Amino acid sequence: MSDLTTLFREHLAKRQAEAEESLARTGFSALVISSGSAHTYFADDQDAPFRAVPHFTYWCPMAGPHHVVVARPGKKPRLIRYAPEDFWYEQVPLSELWGGTPFWLEGFDLVEAGSLDAVWEAVGAQPGGAYIGSETDRAEAAGLTANPDKLTKHLDWLRSTKTPYEIACLEEATRLGALGHKAAKEAFLAGASELEIHQAFVRAVGSVDADLPYGTIVALNEKGSILHYEGKRPNVRKGAVLLLDAGAKHLGYGSDITRTHAAPHCDERFADLITGMEKLQQQLCAAVKPGLHYGAFHQSAHTRVAELLKESGILKTSAEEAVEKGWSRAFFPHGLGHHLGIQVHDVAGKQVGPDGEYAAPPPEHPFLRTTRVIEEGQVFTVEPGLYFIPMLLKPLRENGAAPAFDWKLIDALTPFGGIRIEDNLVVTKDGSRNLTREKLPH
Ligand code: GLY
Ligand code: MN
Ligand code: MN
Repeated sequence: MSDLTTLFREHLAKRQAEAEESLARTGFSALVISSGSAHTYFADDQDAPFRAVPHFTYWCPMAGPHHVVVARPGKKPRLIRYAPEDFWYEQVPLSELWGGTPFWLEGFDLVEAGSLDAVWEAVGAQPGGAYIGSETDRAEAAGLTANPDKLTKHLDWLRSTKTPYEIACLEEATRLGALGHKAAKEAFLAGASELEIHQAFVRAVGSVDADLPYGTIVALNEKGSILHYEGKRPNVRKGAVLLLDAGAKHLGYGSDITRTHAAPHCDERFADLITGMEKLQQQLCAAVKPGLHYGAFHQSAHTRVAELLKESGILKTSAEEAVEKGWSRAFFPHGLGHHLGIQVHDVAGKQVGPDGEYAAPPPEHPFLRTTRVIEEGQVFTVEPGLYFIPMLLKPLRENGAAPAFDWKLIDALTPFGGIRIEDNLVVTKDGSRNLTREKLPH
């Protein structure tokens, strides 16, 4: 594996070549991307934790607001670093921030700007230029076209194929996330609360909450059936089941990892379901290869989940019938996965062409976030789930589907919540690499 400097050099050369292609395709002369401004809470003087505009991170991993990249055909990209003199917030020289010269700096002509006016002065006149980012007032005042749709879609399309530099970032985000998962599992098995498990996770990752790619989902027992459970109960200990969905970030790229663990005192029937889901998830991962349609892949997951429901005695009729009649969706209501990169639900999952051509998910699977054909270089999650969600089970219990299920068993398993197992895969020429299992086998 080459070092990050070399990988970034290649990544940036690709960004430049592809920006030239995007500009030519859409008729613009220059691409100006800013890292954006912070969001200030309503009627307050505090800002939300800052997240850079992803298009900016795609060019440069430097953190913080108001920086700008200017890319023009045939010219080295200009990087304008916003570095005001300020006594309210810490301002540190670049080399101090990065512990030496940042590995990515050689790729840019750097301009340091002490004010927003100086930043935009350094952008200069770019007649016919396009701007991507959130500082649209500034951009329009500079005569740029802000966030033109066709160009944005083309850039999104390019982002859905990852470079070796991006894979290296995701690998490191995975390694850190795996450290967190191991520590969290240990805490869970020692009887820790959701809050303590969360703390064990962030401590092991070595991060503050705001720098995680998304808020951790730390669900003990029945809370596992809430897909995006955000609570951190401090007073519930010695859980029977932990569903932990948590990742880490590196240079702007995030991992998205879920594991479901059973404690020794968990109902054996639920523990067996976890084992079944683990096997099923690995079979799904093994099926990933270029040419497979993600929609068909999602459908195959439903068949496997229905088969598991059948094997476990929850379902009394055939797996085919449960899929055909949509009953499996009550147990597995979300999409099988999504693109992953700078954004956790990364761009272009439903874009099927370079100019924004769109493929909607089938009406029966509205939450599917990826409707594309799987291709080499894509990175996405594979995250089948099986949950006991009272709200979704109620209609089954009350309509003609009722005789097809063992409700006594369902009621006995409902207090254990749900199961999700989530890995991050990079698609190779003839299969895939499971980034997560390399660092977190179980
Ligand atoms: N962590 C959110 C998701 O898995 O999509
Ligand atoms: Mn996910
Ligand atoms: Mn997740």
